[in-house]
Amino acid sequence: MAQEMPALFLSQVERYYPQSDAPLEVLRRADFALWPGEVVALVAPSGTGKSTLLHVAGLLEKPDAGEVFVGGLATTKLDDSGRTRLRRTEIGFVYQFHHLLPEFTALENVVLPQRIRGLSRDEAEQRASELLTFLGLGERLDHLPSELSGGEQQRVAIGRAVANGPRLLLADEPTGNLDPHTSQHVFATLMALARASGLAALIATHNLQLARQMDRQVTIREGLVVALD
Ligand SMILES: Nc1ncnc2c1ncn2[C@@H]1O[C@H](COP(=O)(O)OP(=O)(O)OP(=O)(O)O)[C@@H](O)[C@H]1O
Ligand SMILES: [Mg+2]
Repeated sequence: MAQEMPALFLSQVERYYPQSDAPLEVLRRADFALWPGEVVALVAPSGTGKSTLLHVAGLLEKPDAGEVFVGGLATTKLDDSGRTRLRRTEIGFVYQFHHLLPEFTALENVVLPQRIRGLSRDEAEQRASELLTFLGLGERLDHLPSELSGGEQQRVAIGRAVANGPRLLLADEPTGNLDPHTSQHVFATLMALARASGLAALIATHNLQLARQMDRQVTIREGLVVALD
């Protein structure tokens, strides 16, 4: 049997930011594999490169060196449209702030990415409605983002991120703006979704209580991804 492919594999990834003197080296030959179905916490102090790592993994930024494999596919040689297509189908991204479209309902926010991908309105609405119901928002489909609580907004953002059935979910402090109780609820919902769909997820968080509930914990030390001890 062929060996299983990582959902995400960073190989010798380097990322520098130019500065007036020497460049700021955020990632230095970082290696990291995320396996299908795994939910991994990324816990590291502010400024160590969590967002940078997630942006590189999510094809939002290119590494300065090294390779990013998504589902086994090397991504650095792809052109912009190839990267966009891969991002749209294979990767879901959740941010600290929901970034929902304010003029659109919860349902429409989850429909939209599917329409962009070419699904019919009926198919997209059906899937959006099922997803939001799974996320506990079956009674909130027609609410605008401004008519939802912070935890509800984040659950819609999670629904939007997975609307196109990606195999990889990247989340950058998805509960960072929420109180501890709501954080736990949103996280538990995300975890249930990941388990139900076999998603691989890498979740940056400063919340150690959440981190401990994930399959394993990694950190960034001197530009490398290492196990958190
Ligand atoms: N576009 C940029 N240009 C220059 N430097 C940057 C840029 N983006 C990030 N940095 C620097 O790179 C380092 C890593 O930033 P990053 O945002 O990845 O940290 P983080 O671990 O996500 O922190 P936080 O927990 O505060 O979100 C920081 O020192 C930051 O100042
Ligand atoms: Mg960050």
